Amino acid sequence: MSLQTEARPGKSAGKETYFRPRRLGHANLWVNNLKTSETFYNKVCGFTVEFWEPDLVATFLGTGHTPHDIGMIEVTGGKARYGRDGLLQIPEGVGATKGLGHIAFEVANEKELVEAYFKAKKAGAIANEMSVDHQIAHSIYTFDPDGNCTEFYCDTVKDWRKVIHGEMSLITGNWTPGETELFTDGRWDPDPEVRLVKEAPVHPRRVTHVVFKPKDMGKMVDYYTGLGGLAVVHEAKDRSIVCLRGSVPAYRYTVALVQCAGDEKPGYHATAFELASPAEVDAAEKRCKAGGIAIERSVDHASKRAFFLLDPDGLRTEYYARKTPDFADLSKEPAKDRAYLI
Ligand SMILES: [Fe+2]
Repeated sequence: MSLQTEARPGKSAGKETYFRPRRLGHANLWVNNLKTSETFYNKVCGFTVEFWEPDLVATFLGTGHTPHDIGMIEVTGGKARYGRDGLLQIPEGVGATKGLGHIAFEVANEKELVEAYFKAKKAGAIANEMSVDHQIAHSIYTFDPDGNCTEFYCDTVKDWRKVIHGEMSLITGNWTPGETELFTDGRWDPDPEVRLVKEAPVHPRRVTHVVFKPKDMGKMVDYYTGLGGLAVVHEAKDRSIVCLRGSVPAYRYTVALVQCAGDEKPGYHATAFELASPAEVDAAEKRCKAGGIAIERSVDHASKRAFFLLDPDGLRTEYYARKTPDFADLSKEPAKDRAYLI
């Protein structure tokens, strides 16, 4: 699995692009009960617990491809939470209820991250942002047109497990972009130690993408191609589906936007994790069923084998392997099925 980066122009069809990340690094969820969700994602979904922050009421799990594939923070009930050095990390009103917390995109290095930020700021292309130091990453958070929080980050430490593991006191503090000399080397790990949870029924290899059902397809495409700097790699003939990718071609896509059916609510649909092969998806689904784990939906399509699980809060994750690298024409499939079939 190559982690090589592909060159990406600074403008796409005459339009300015900004962050131009490599790939999706993780998704972060608001959960009702941290321990219950942590147990589900570890014991059922097969993610290793890498580190946790009791003071933030947060746990971070993963495969090792990035410092975490999935993070979760217990809902705040609307009360503010603070990070290191008094940083207002979670402002009042944020994270009051379960749902998607944010999605995070990995940018190649600090110079690219900060220059994109300054360029976006100057152009008025970014608003309501927050920049923080996570000790192993520098991050800038902002929001897409549907209100989903998006994080653009660069790793600052290649061997992150040496810095952050197990129980941690507050990790996150203030960071002012450009306050120190910008580094230009990529500090993402090119040869990560991938860990599987052997006793879990599912053995994901890496997070690959998220699926949204947008309120306004045009605005979301503009955001993810513009500020996000992702490239459109697939568009259904009727534009009911648009798939966008970062600069690592080994990730087929990073964000899928799927128009919802008339009676559906727009919003976050799922985060997807890749397994080794369609046969491994079969085996994982069988092991789930044997263990009494409910499968929300099983998919055996010409283009992929997948199944979906709902976590203790009803938040959806997908476990899949592709049968073909081609994009199937899903425009003839019922609108309600497309977010599952993409
Ligand atoms: Fe994050």
